[in-house]
Amino acid sequence: MSFDKKERIILIGPMGAGKSSIGKSLALVSEKAFLDVDEEIVRYAKMSIPDIFATKGEEEFRNIESVVLEKCLKYDAVIATGGGIIGRELNRKLLKENGIVVYLLADVDTQYLRTSHDNNRPMLNVDDRRQRLADIFSKRDPLYKECADITIDSGKMDIHDCVETIIEKIRES
Ligand code: S3P
Repeated sequence: MSFDKKERIILIGPMGAGKSSIGKSLALVSEKAFLDVDEEIVRYAKMSIPDIFATKGEEEFRNIESVVLEKCLKYDAVIATGGGIIGRELNRKLLKENGIVVYLLADVDTQYLRTSHDNNRPMLNVDDRRQRLADIFSKRDPLYKECADITIDSGKMDIHDCVETIIEKIRES
């Protein structure tokens, strides 16, 4: 199953696309380390993501996210990113230059279903979460596409099939 261990694989995509769970499984199968940018942000800031948003605001969260992304990109690992990582041009440049970028696509209904019981995502602290996800997705989809080397519809496959498909596509590319 394993391929070149030096290849860094970066997972991007909307909230609920399965970046963390697919990333962990992909890392295991491909015998790579796994890093989750959101988890590293919490470790770096020593507070939860909702607390960062509440006390420092989104802009400061994005500053921390960029710093942590740069740190994570020093490792040859499978790296799962947060859904908003592609918002900044510098982040997009870093992603494109530092690994194979896999866009995990999931339609808005899937995003909505998978995030509906979650209170750890400040971007979804609104009354109409579905509309919010749709608005965010329409803005971000072109940016995900701009960065992606490979795109996988993770809304239509289970984790195992996603991992197999990613590995196949990387081998073909
Ligand atoms: C965000 C997505 C989250 C997290 C933060 C902001 C976003 O990550 O980084 O809550 O702006 O879409 P997930 O995509 O892993 O939920």
